[in-house]
Amino acid sequence: MKQLHSNIDVTDDQFKARIDSYSDLINKYYSAMNSVTHRDQEPTVIRHLKRGKLDVRRRIELLTDENTPFLELSPLAAYDQYDNQFPSAGIITGIGRIHGKSCMIIANDATVKGGTYISETVKKHLRGQEIALKNHLPCVYIVDSGGIFLPEQARIFPDRDGFGRIFYNQSQMSASAIPQISIVMGSCTAGGAYVPAMSDETIIVKNQGTIFIGGPPLVKAATGEEVTAEELGGALVHTGISGVADHLAENEIDAIRICRNIFELIPPVDSQVLNMQNIEEPIYNSSDLYGIAPIDLKKSVDIYEIIARIVDGSKFEEFKRDYGTTLITGYSRILGFPVGILANNGFLTSEAALKGAHFIEICNFRKIPLLFLQNISGFIVGKKYEHEGIARNGAKLIHAVATAVVPKITVIIGGSFGAGNYAMAGRAYNPDFLFMWPNSRIAVMGGQQAQDVLNSIKSTTSESSLNLEQRFEEEGSAYFSTSRIWDDGIIDPANTRIVVGLAISIASNTRSASPKSGIYRM
Ligand code: COA
Repeated sequence: MKQLHSNIDVTDDQFKARIDSYSDLINKYYSAMNSVTHRDQEPTVIRHLKRGKLDVRRRIELLTDENTPFLELSPLAAYDQYDNQFPSAGIITGIGRIHGKSCMIIANDATVKGGTYISETVKKHLRGQEIALKNHLPCVYIVDSGGIFLPEQARIFPDRDGFGRIFYNQSQMSASAIPQISIVMGSCTAGGAYVPAMSDETIIVKNQGTIFIGGPPLVKAATGEEVTAEELGGALVHTGISGVADHLAENEIDAIRICRNIFELIPPVDSQVLNMQNIEEPIYNSSDLYGIAPIDLKKSVDIYEIIARIVDGSKFEEFKRDYGTTLITGYSRILGFPVGILANNGFLTSEAALKGAHFIEICNFRKIPLLFLQNISGFIVGKKYEHEGIARNGAKLIHAVATAVVPKITVIIGGSFGAGNYAMAGRAYNPDFLFMWPNSRIAVMGGQQAQDVLNSIKSTTSESSLNLEQRFEEEGSAYFSTSRIWDDGIIDPANTRIVVGLAISIASNTRSASPKSGIYRM
């Protein structure tokens, strides 16, 4: 494969100044991450630990194989909402390894409003299950939750993708032979009782785990019966009397040991065989990406400079180099995995769209996972382009993206605007994973354009349209997106290759389907 050559002089003062200005974004990112991951001085955390319980991230660390990565999803869910009272939306989700097998771990954080569910908690839980279902990942639920956060019930309880969907998904996955295992480390009340109840196998911790449809206060109110939580639905009740749980654990460590033992006998899945090679580090430094990342979206960025700092050996074999040059397509490797890259280098034109569709078809047949690097202001506009059928040609790319049978990983490195978002495997196109860089932005169009559009169709400028630009500014930020789980998390640009490599390995856990048609030359 051809090695990319960088034209950047990293010792240049202007480049260093760009790195300096990006450091503000990186500091903001790590400060937001720290606010949700390092909460040991908070009273609820201190109380939790005093009760002899382990921190939720420590539970995950002990459950997974030593020195193996845990790909955490959406750690900044609910960030800057609800007065920041729901760090990580009160639930940790991610993919780790137990006895060498990849699995989805979904763990309540009881230090966040008793581990109760707001709508972002439900969305995060369901997203974890969606990834597990698609990639045949066994699920471990570490349960410690008071169920629905009652003041928010109308946004959580009744709809299709509400709380009830969690248990529906468990049944669907169980029926597809995807193991569902619960470790009850705290409370499972009301609807929450169904997480362990719907699992294939459930472990419960003595004098700590409880499962009941109605807790003691509700029982007293409903029937007058006075009963302690332990008598109503403690570990001894459920392993000895009701049979709701299967394994009695002496403590949390014992529960984790039992879960790991169960994994020993879970059969491995029939994963996609990929043509792997030894990992090669890129020849250019990944931290240079801070000086290259597009902060000012009006300025173009040479996407080859970014690819050179992400792929193995900075090697990239380009497809149709001289045609449709605003979309760069080509073959490469990341952490030894083969990958087909589609990366924006300007507006999407008809030629670029045709080239992208053709390239995706080839990758489908060769079982090469796709990586979309999004920095797109949209499809090109104007009479000439409409007449040549930009909508028709764009549709071909969007169709190819939507129906691709190989794993799709999307990283939004700059702007993600308009139909460009769709054509480059935005969230609606079911990429297996979608990550954002801290500088990136996502919206139907830029704030200024939205303001201009609205002003041009309104005879008088209303107050709300005057504020539109500022609203788009706020709503377009990567933090706004990640807080609402429109993505799987914001990542440090310097970690892109590790995150993408992990994502490809997870998305290749099962075999890809076969393409439904041959390769149409576009
Ligand atoms: N809805 C709304 N808020 C809830 C809640 C719920 N279901 N369960 C707990 N909370 C809140 C508490 O009011 C408290 O809020 P505060 O910090 O603002 O005072 C916070 O979560 C922590 O609760 P607390 O009871 O102090 O924590 P705990 O660790 O001692 O107990 C529970 C946690 C979950 C066992 C206990 O709160 C409980 O039993 N909750 C009710 C569960 C229930 O009946 N759920 C039914 C809904 S499906």
